[in-house]
Amino acid sequence: MFRTYTCGELRISDVNKQVTLAGWVQRSRRMGGMTFVDLRDRYGITQLVFNEEVDTPLCERANKLGREFVVQIKGTVSERFSKNGNMPTGDVEIIVSELNILNASVTPPFTIEDNTDGGDDIRMKYRYLDLRRNVVRANLELRHKMTMEIRRYLDNMGFLEVETPVLIGSTPEGARDFVVPSRMNPGQFYALPQSPQLFKQLLMVSGFDRYFQIVKCFRDEDLRADRQPEFTQIDCEMSFVEQEDVISTFEGMAKHLFKTIRGVELTGPFLRMPWSEAMKYYGSDKPDLRFGMKFVELMDILKGHGFSVFDDATYIGGICAEGAAVYTRKQLDALTDFVKKSQIGAKGMVYARIEADGNVKSSVDKFYSQEVLQQMKEAFGAKPGDLILILSGDDAMKTRKQLCELRLEMGNQLGLRDKNSFACLWVIDFPLFEWDEEQKRFMAMHHPFTSPKLEDVHLLDSDTGAVRANAYDMVVNGVEVGGGSIRIHDSELQNKMFGLLGFTSKRAHEQFGYLMDAFKYGAPPHGGLAYGLDRWVSLFAGLDSIRDCIAFPKNNSGRDVMIDAPATLESAQLEELNLIIDLKDHK
Ligand code: AMO
Repeated sequence: MFRTYTCGELRISDVNKQVTLAGWVQRSRRMGGMTFVDLRDRYGITQLVFNEEVDTPLCERANKLGREFVVQIKGTVSERFSKNGNMPTGDVEIIVSELNILNASVTPPFTIEDNTDGGDDIRMKYRYLDLRRNVVRANLELRHKMTMEIRRYLDNMGFLEVETPVLIGSTPEGARDFVVPSRMNPGQFYALPQSPQLFKQLLMVSGFDRYFQIVKCFRDEDLRADRQPEFTQIDCEMSFVEQEDVISTFEGMAKHLFKTIRGVELTGPFLRMPWSEAMKYYGSDKPDLRFGMKFVELMDILKGHGFSVFDDATYIGGICAEGAAVYTRKQLDALTDFVKKSQIGAKGMVYARIEADGNVKSSVDKFYSQEVLQQMKEAFGAKPGDLILILSGDDAMKTRKQLCELRLEMGNQLGLRDKNSFACLWVIDFPLFEWDEEQKRFMAMHHPFTSPKLEDVHLLDSDTGAVRANAYDMVVNGVEVGGGSIRIHDSELQNKMFGLLGFTSKRAHEQFGYLMDAFKYGAPPHGGLAYGLDRWVSLFAGLDSIRDCIAFPKNNSGRDVMIDAPATLESAQLEELNLIIDLKDHK
């Protein structure tokens, strides 16, 4: 056998056994006449010992081993003189009798340790070495465990895994598509799926009833910590269901994952919050509910007292940070700078401290009597020692978004966003449409196949923007981990929807004719959801970026720096594809 044990397996009960191990040299050190080598594989590290006195040539060979050499050894398990309680194999070592060097290694560009000396760029360039590190490997192991549990849960619930194509057609809605030229169809392009949305709906028409797929999706959008150009969805669809059925099935999956992966038993239904409430109280459709600091609107109390900033505002709102009255002037100035940053864009910030005697001391005292300030204090239910922070503006939605950033920043500063506590909620009742000022038309907030709420259908023509959708997102700790909807299954209503979205019937037919046709052949009522696998794994692993749970991720410019992609094509290849490159703006 190539190896009889892994490097993470041997314990004190194995002493005196003859064993064969194989792995990588993590490090080696000489002490007196002894050479100690840490041998590593994905299961752990085992200490090897070479004794110069017992076998000089063997020890000399061991002394030549460099970091990351691949070796096979035979030897006897022995109890260690000085045990290492920090590692599972720390009670034993192997007295080596035979050493086979399987492969040498050049010196790696960074140390393969938990705390490595390698920066981000170098680790991405040599990602295969980075993946040897415990911390990175553990994330992929967690990802594997989670996909196993997801498949187990869905299989138990009668879901069938069906693969859908990756070379499909481009659709104008949603994010930008990645496109692929077709050699056999000159001048024509496939697009890579942003999600298998239409295929899963067609599978419902085919009668598949409960579908799922753990599937790569592609979106050409600006990247952030929780966005990659290719990412993985747990994509699901069900027939003969209402919103309630979909929500309970996927809340069940979330609870199953919390229980099997994190050992956390979540009892009772997850909180549900209408979109309008999430925007009003948290300025976000994905509020982080690990902490409070709900917005309080202050228009009635603070307007009309001669402070022109507030008098001219169409929205004044604030948050109350418990116990933060101790903030110094310097800290408050830093917070003001924070909200004024260009990405946030507030003009300024007003603050008020609740003093020990209950009096309110604010940065705009000269405009407000203590009586008005006390009314404000009451509106927050603030106590002595609390700090109130206020923003205002002439665009309520914009100001709420700024206040949302301030709330999250305060949550960070006060240590209220603990990675080991979880707050799950469903955001429901999304608007069906959102107005696009640039294109001067309505866009689908979720996608064009989402059904309006039955009770709002009569508003489709008269008050389009007010129509709510049968759509729902699951949010955990301020991260949108999934979203879905009940779909339109009636071709007439679907046609109307395309009309409201500004499609001519010709264009709607060109783009989605196959779906409209399919709906004529008995489409069942259906709905579904897609979870973002990368986001779930990063949440459970406590990662700051989803990149860290993807084996070979792209960097912030969408590049794979290891294989150096994307790249230009050889001219012969371009010719075969009937393509001429003319980079107008980039010459
Ligand atoms: P949606 O666009 O909301 O819905 O996507 C579903 C989930 O996928 C994850 N996600 C991403 N994760 C990483 N990087 C990205 N660029 C990225 N984009 C999305 C999020 C998100 O909640 N077809 C519908 C689902 C449905 O209606 O059933 C869809 O794709 O966690």
